[in-house]
Amino acid sequence: MPKQKIFVFHKIPEIGLKMLEKKFEFSKKLKGASAILSLLTDKIDARIMDKAGRNLKVISNYAVGYDNIDIIAASQCHIMVTNTPGVLTNTVAEHTIGLICAIAQRIPEADKFTKKGKFHGWQPMLLLGVDLKDKILGIIGLGRIGARVAEIAKQGFNMKILYYDKIRNKKYEFSSIKNILRNSDFITLHLPLLPSTRHLIGKKEFKLMKPTAYLINTSRGPIINEKSLVKALKKKQIASAALDVFEKEPKLASGLIKLNNVILTPHIASASIETREKMAVIAAQNIIDVLEGRKPENLVNR
Ligand code: DGY
Repeated sequence: MPKQKIFVFHKIPEIGLKMLEKKFEFSKKLKGASAILSLLTDKIDARIMDKAGRNLKVISNYAVGYDNIDIIAASQCHIMVTNTPGVLTNTVAEHTIGLICAIAQRIPEADKFTKKGKFHGWQPMLLLGVDLKDKILGIIGLGRIGARVAEIAKQGFNMKILYYDKIRNKKYEFSSIKNILRNSDFITLHLPLLPSTRHLIGKKEFKLMKPTAYLINTSRGPIINEKSLVKALKKKQIASAALDVFEKEPKLASGLIKLNNVILTPHIASASIETREKMAVIAAQNIIDVLEGRKPENLVNR
C-alpha cells in the first residue's frame, strides 16, 4: 500500500520529523496530502484545504495558538485540527516573568548603556527601576500560562495577583478588566486571539492605566492596538511595555523601535530547546494518531 503523504510547511525539530518519516512520506506538493504540519505563521484557510484535496484528514499546528487556521472551514470538511498545548506553558510563563524583570529593572537599557562605554562609576540615581515585591500584577487570561505566571510571581516575588478570566480560580482575586487596568502596576495578557479579544487593549484602555504601569504581551499581537500603544508610550500615558508578539508580525508598528520605554523580543516566548522538541513530538504524534485511526490527544475542533 502506498504511504500516506504529509505536507510540511516549514521544518520543525528533527525529532518530530523522524517520527513522521518512519511511517509516512513527505510530499513537496500540497495536493493529495493526508496531513499538513503548519506553523502559526502559515495561514490555513479553505483555499489551502481545497488545494490539498479530499485526502486531507488532519492539520497539525506546531503551536498552542491556532488563530492562523480557519477552524470552521476545517470542521465543515471533517478535517481534524490539532495543537501543542501544555508543554510550552512553563516556558512562556518564564519568558513573561523575564520580561517583567527586564522592564522593571531596565536591563536592556542598562546593557546598552554599559556596552556603549557610558558607565563611569556607581551613581545613586543611575538607571533606577522598580521593585516587584508587593506590586500588583494584573493577569488578563488565567488559563494554563496565565496561572503559571501568577504562581511564579506570587511565590517568587510576593506580588499581589488580580486576574480576569471567564473561569474563576479561587487561588487569586478576580477583578473586572477595567479594575485591573486601573489598579495594576504590571499587566500581562494571556488570551487567545478571537474576534472578542482583538484590540482589547487600545486608546480607551491606556487612559485607564496608571502612568507608572507596565504592559506585557506574550500571547497574540493583535490583542493590543499597536498604533495606540506607540502613542501611549510616547505620551508616557504608561511607563513601559514588553512585547514578544506583534499586531502584524513580523512588521512592527511605525515608531515602536525608536522608543526607549519598550522591550521587544521576536515571538520567542516558547523558544527553549526542550520545549520546541516536545512541541515537535506532540505535533508529529497528533498526525500519527489521526492517520492511524485514533483520536488525537490535542484535538481543537471536537
Ligand atoms: C504558540 O504556540 O501559540 C506560541 O505563540 C508560539 O510558541
